[in-house]
Amino acid sequence: MRTTDFALIGPGRLGLRLADRLRQRGWSWVAVRGRRHLPSALCAMVPSATVCDTWHAPATWAAPRVIFVTVPDDAISEVATRLASALEMDSSIVLHTSGLHDAGALAPCRAAGARVGSWHPLQSFPPIAAGTVQWDGVWCAVEGDLEAVEQGTSVASALGLNPWRIAATDKPRYHAAASVAANLTHILVAEAARVMSGCGLPQGDGEHPLWPLVEASLRGALEGPGLDRLTGALARADIATITRHLAVLDEPLREAYQALSKVVTQATVSTEER
Ligand SMILES: NC(=O)c1ccc[n+]([C@@H]2O[C@H](COP(=O)([O-])OP(=O)(O)OC[C@H]3O[C@@H](n4cnc5c(N)ncnc54)[C@H](OP(=O)(O)O)[C@@H]3O)[C@@H](O)[C@H]2O)c1
Repeated sequence: MRTTDFALIGPGRLGLRLADRLRQRGWSWVAVRGRRHLPSALCAMVPSATVCDTWHAPATWAAPRVIFVTVPDDAISEVATRLASALEMDSSIVLHTSGLHDAGALAPCRAAGARVGSWHPLQSFPPIAAGTVQWDGVWCAVEGDLEAVEQGTSVASALGLNPWRIAATDKPRYHAAASVAANLTHILVAEAARVMSGCGLPQGDGEHPLWPLVEASLRGALEGPGLDRLTGALARADIATITRHLAVLDEPLREAYQALSKVVTQATVSTEER
């Protein structure tokens, strides 16, 4: 695709990685704006960009074809309102990166003449210090005004992502599922590692002893169908073992174990009814 120039509002976890990836693919920064003064490391990353500390747009702000809004979900509307009053937006495409919200969150920009969309890579982006993150082959949900969807689709492809079009009404369900898959799994595995750390398991510099078990479980969960590949006491309905587990777990982990065992019971009942 034709590379172009872009502005970024919200140089946080996703914003910085996105900007870096765009830069590697030949795009140029025009401007970047955060809430606070930007760290010197970021200023060094964007030598050609205007680092804006106010919403009073310098001349360069009139230029960017694509504006990425990578601020937290609850700040998107405020940023959209500020952008709409600060910029000439007739030829701009504005894309936010929330998994939950649809393009309507950018309504003030749309009213000011921009084409707006939502653009959500299905990946976890920790701070840059955590190391590299996979982009190639990651799915990216795109939705919004036609021109914004076309631009968002071609940006995603240029970055190595797999773009697909999502219906605006599906976004809350899509994002809830992504959060369960990523965030609840993260919490459960981290808690399991904490509980196991008191059991004297030798640990070297290599991968965590839980890794082979967790990896096989994740693969089984995604290969499915449903809970068919689940193993362990819950899959066997081994009540005596489950009771012993519950006796040694603290709250709220015990409560989480009980809640998820209900999911297994319900899945078993609905399979038997079929
Ligand atoms: N991180 C991920 O794994 C990930 C993955 C997919 C999608 N997303 C989406 O990407 C968006 C950003 O998430 P994130 O994790 O990158 O958040 P983040 O690390 O908290 O970064 C948010 C950035 O927005 C800035 N900001 C906050 N309020 C602002 C405002 N009113 N005006 C201008 N800048 C403002 C913050 O500046 P300060 O630091 O000065 O507050 C920060 O630079 C969210 O919609 C999220 O759902 C994130």
